[in-house]
Amino acid sequence: MKKKIPIIIDCDPGQDDAINLFLAMSSPAELEIIGITTVAGNVSISLTSRNARIICDIAGRPDIPVFAGSAHPMKRKLVTAEHVHGKTGLNGIDIYEPVHPLHEMHAVDFIVETLLAAEDESITLVLTGPLTNIALAIQKNPSILSKIAEIIMMGGAMREGGNYSPSAEFNIVVDPHAADIVFHSNLKISVLGLDVTYQVPATQSRKDRIRAMTNEVARSTSKMLDLFDRFAAIKYSSSGAPLNDPCTIAYLLKPELFTGKQCNLTVETESELTMGHTAIDFWQVTDRAVNVNWVYSVDSNGFYDLLIERLSRFDDRF
Ligand code: BDR
Ligand code: CA
Repeated sequence: MKKKIPIIIDCDPGQDDAINLFLAMSSPAELEIIGITTVAGNVSISLTSRNARIICDIAGRPDIPVFAGSAHPMKRKLVTAEHVHGKTGLNGIDIYEPVHPLHEMHAVDFIVETLLAAEDESITLVLTGPLTNIALAIQKNPSILSKIAEIIMMGGAMREGGNYSPSAEFNIVVDPHAADIVFHSNLKISVLGLDVTYQVPATQSRKDRIRAMTNEVARSTSKMLDLFDRFAAIKYSSSGAPLNDPCTIAYLLKPELFTGKQCNLTVETESELTMGHTAIDFWQVTDRAVNVNWVYSVDSNGFYDLLIERLSRFDDRF
């Protein structure tokens, strides 16, 4: 039997972060979720932390600890995305005070302590929000670096430009200085940016397949997608919101669905005009060293087949 991959998911839920958590929770044979850490991004830290706990409640996972992390980026003022995700960050489903507790420990301390206690190159970090927590953890104790097997993250854009500004994607632009630290870490990093996530829109027929399922997780996914879609329709005149963050867990589960290329990725941290831009040297026109696997293409139908099959696994749980 293949060994389970131990992962920490650092996120800012967010409907797409939430669906990514469901996808991870549906895959216990492959993934061991050691903890969920939250960061301010789509909404404030108190809301992203509450939302992560609501997701644990819905999925029936009282065993996964949730830790609240950074309330603001390292150097810049926090910007949020209520216009995309709604005031609660998870508009579309019922919001309530979750049963699932919030751990007292700060997320950065949890990450540092967990990694220090782990074997070398043993833990995978899945990052679907601004990179503040991880950068602070690296700064706090650089010895954690040797413990990380790899990073799989959603962020950045090359061909798709940006969704926050003409040249920047949200997760990177919220905390470009944190991103810069992560991309200079010499870790093995796979980056799923807008170039790939825009290839997986939740079209009507895909949403219909999810709506046909009756379990609570699939029902919540459906409701979140409906809300997420409204924004996509206004912003992109498209018939389906891109499922950005679930590309990370899908990549871990089925890397063969994706195509990537070893590239240098450098983040803009100076210019206000292009702040947070990810300059990707796709054609190796500079001598900057390779630091990421830039994932740029996905088998879109394969992605939805995987997601839908995994969501259907919750049928037996309710
Ligand atoms: C990213 O930004 C957030 O709004 C989403 O949750 C996703 O992580 C997409 O740019
Ligand atoms: Ca996110």
